[in-house]
Amino acid sequence: MPLFYLISLWLHILAGAIWIGGMVFVALVLVPVIRRPENQGVAASLIQVTGRRFRSVGWSCLILLLLTGAVNLFYRGFSVSELWSAELWQSPFGLVLALKLFLFGSVLALSCAHDFSVGPRATALWRKEPASAEAGRLRRQASWLGRVNLLLALAIVALGIMLARGSPW
Ligand code: HEM
Repeated sequence: MPLFYLISLWLHILAGAIWIGGMVFVALVLVPVIRRPENQGVAASLIQVTGRRFRSVGWSCLILLLLTGAVNLFYRGFSVSELWSAELWQSPFGLVLALKLFLFGSVLALSCAHDFSVGPRATALWRKEPASAEAGRLRRQASWLGRVNLLLALAIVALGIMLARGSPW
């Protein structure tokens, strides 16, 4: 295996692990802790500063996943012209890759909505008017965007393994 291919796969898997690990930490550790009554005073500011910090880590991972994903495809022997051929996308590998890229595009769109719109508006209003119905609505929206993104990420990992090892169908 060429060294650069190994480095690309290594970075691809690490970027996925850091991004997904961060989302799992937020969902299963940070949010349950800040929901405890004794943490209500700091909850909104903690989610705001943590969210901003994880936003830059998360997007760095997503950009790295796209770049190393393209390198992986190159080392799999696919030229740019082949990526435009129907033959590739009709093959079992191509079908899995098409589904993976569709889910990846959905993740980028949901991450944009969560990280640059709903999330910042939810935490800002949560700090200003914590009991308002609008703050509650935006927090629920942000939570659901995050949960759907995590589920899509888990599906993308399964598709990634299929690209590397073959699909069960
Ligand atoms: C959320 C984003 C992504 C995650 C979590 C992810 C995860 C993975 C995982 C876990 C593997 C399996 C590695 C192995 O078993 O050896 C993999 C393989 C692969 N991924 Fe991704 N991936 C993502 C995005 C992408 C994108 C955007 C592309 C294409 C531009 C891509 C192209 C590939 C390729 C070609 C392989 C096969 C590597 C090989 O065996 O040669 N991935 N991915």
